[in-house]
Amino acid sequence: MRSGCSGKADEVAAPVVAERLVPEFTRRVTFMNAVSKRLFVGLGLAVCLVLPSWAQEARVGNLTGHAANGKKQYRRYCIGCHGPLGDGDGENAPWIDPKPRDFTTATFKCRSTPTGTLPTDQDLYKSVGRGFSNSNMPHWDALIDQDRIDLVAYIKSFSPRWQSEKPGQPIAVPAEPAVTKESITHGGELFQKMECWKCHGQQGRGDGPSASTLTDSKDQPIRPYNFADGADDSRFKCGETNQDLYRIFMAGVDGTPMPSFADVIQPSDAWDLVHFLRTLQTNRHSKENNVLKGSGGKVAPPTPGN
Ligand code: HEC
Ligand code: HEC
Repeated sequence: MRSGCSGKADEVAAPVVAERLVPEFTRRVTFMNAVSKRLFVGLGLAVCLVLPSWAQEARVGNLTGHAANGKKQYRRYCIGCHGPLGDGDGENAPWIDPKPRDFTTATFKCRSTPTGTLPTDQDLYKSVGRGFSNSNMPHWDALIDQDRIDLVAYIKSFSPRWQSEKPGQPIAVPAEPAVTKESITHGGELFQKMECWKCHGQQGRGDGPSASTLTDSKDQPIRPYNFADGADDSRFKCGETNQDLYRIFMAGVDGTPMPSFADVIQPSDAWDLVHFLRTLQTNRHSKENNVLKGSGGKVAPPTPGN
């Protein structure tokens, strides 16, 4: 394989033995090699011309990441799934569901920023360290901080959006009110009213009437989150705390049918919804489940849906 930006492809070894045995086949192979070699050089030059203007940095706290260093880590750890061009078409991609992220569109699921906007460097940095539950995206918290921030800088070099747009303004998360029976009950009403159940199901098992019809922005089938499935340590793709949960339905999960509810829900209502969602995680030892148990059982009577 070639490396660097010398504009020269490595020599392709001549298939000497095969030439003697099957000349017809070899001629074709040699021709193809010549064609792909030219394409390769062309592509390499194009990338070399484009890359410098996209040269990226990333910043989190006092860490500064550089795309050039990130590239080395990427080729070692990420390329097999996300592909050499960052388009999610790595050699393992055909066997993976959901598919690896295509960085060329800069559409990200886990953001602290409003739907449709770019995530912050910190969002990406945390995603890389956390990994994505219910997917093949590993957690890379074994890498040192500098490697991870370099990787973030490199990921940003795949899309020109980072040159023309700024990350969105992070969504404010107000202080969490107390968990009460009333809060949980009201959250249950919102779950009905805002029709979360249509996808997530009345019990939050990811089996609502629309669930089987959903596809993501790449036309791949996608399942709504099953709240009841996990154990005590169950997590979301985009985090695990109540603050993360609040942010998830305010920001939406971009690239999927999971919308943002920021325009239709008040902050205090949003916290009630968080408290209710926690009770759908029936295996979790949570404050919410304790309050529910203490109050003697079920809160939200399922309203008849279709
Ligand atoms: C085994 C395959 C695999 C490897 C290796 C892998 N990823 Fe991923 N990655 C995925 C998949 C699959 C997704 C999409 C998960 C989803 O949509 O739920 C993903 C998603 C992501 C996202 C998207 C976050 C978002 O908010 O949408 C980032 C960033 C990312 N990977 C970075 C990396 C980095 C950096 C590396 C290397 C250190 C890496 N990945 C290695 C499979 C992989
Ligand atoms: C149109 C269908 C649809 C509706 C309506 C919907 N969701 Fe979702 N939701 C999804 C899908 C699909 C996913 C899975 C996204 C993924 O795995 O990438 C999801 C994921 C989630 C997640 C987990 C995200 C993560 O980080 O893993 C939460 C929490 C959630 N939804 C809450 C809600 C709430 C609360 C409502 C109502 C206010 C709601 N959803 C309405 C389709 C929907």
